[in-house]
Amino acid sequence: MRVLFVCLGNICRSPMAEAILRERLEAEGLSDQVVVDSAGTSNWEEGNPVHHGTRDRLALEDISVEGMTSRPLAERDLEADYIIAMDAKNIADIEQFIDGRPSGRVVKMLTLVGRDEDIADPWYTGDFDQTYQDISEAVDALIIELKEALNA
Ligand code: 4NP
Repeated sequence: MRVLFVCLGNICRSPMAEAILRERLEAEGLSDQVVVDSAGTSNWEEGNPVHHGTRDRLALEDISVEGMTSRPLAERDLEADYIIAMDAKNIADIEQFIDGRPSGRVVKMLTLVGRDEDIADPWYTGDFDQTYQDISEAVDALIIELKEALNA
C-alpha cells in the first residue's frame, strides 16, 4: 500500500502529514505494509528541507523530519493507492497532472473526517499548531481506513 500526501510547496503541510503517518504506523507495527511519501504541486521549494515551523511543531511530539526534502509530483506518483491533498487547489492541480490517466484515489485530507474544509496553509497563516491539529485528526482516520483496506 502506498500513500502520497500532496501540498503546494512540500515543505509545510504534506511533509507534516508524511512524518505523522509514518510515526503512527510504526507505533502500530504497520510500517512494512504502507509506504508513505509526499510531494508538491509546484517545484518552488525543490530540494529544500522541511519548514522550521513544521519541524518545531513535530519536535514537540518527538517526531523527526531529518533528511526530508521537497520534490514536485512525478510520474511514479500515479502508482500511489491514496493521493491525499491538503486543499481544493491541490486537488485541481493533481487532477491536471493526472490528466485522466489511471491513478489511485485522490482525496482531500479533511474529507477523511467528514469536514469539507482545506488544511490551512501555515506558510500564509503562520499557525503551525492549527495545521498540526487538523492533520493529526485526519491521519488517525486514515489509519483506520488503511487497516480496513489491508485486512480486506
Ligand atoms: P506548503 O506551504 O504547500 O504547505 O508546503 C507552502 C510552502 C511554500 C510556498 C507556499 C506554500 N511558497 O510560496 O513557496
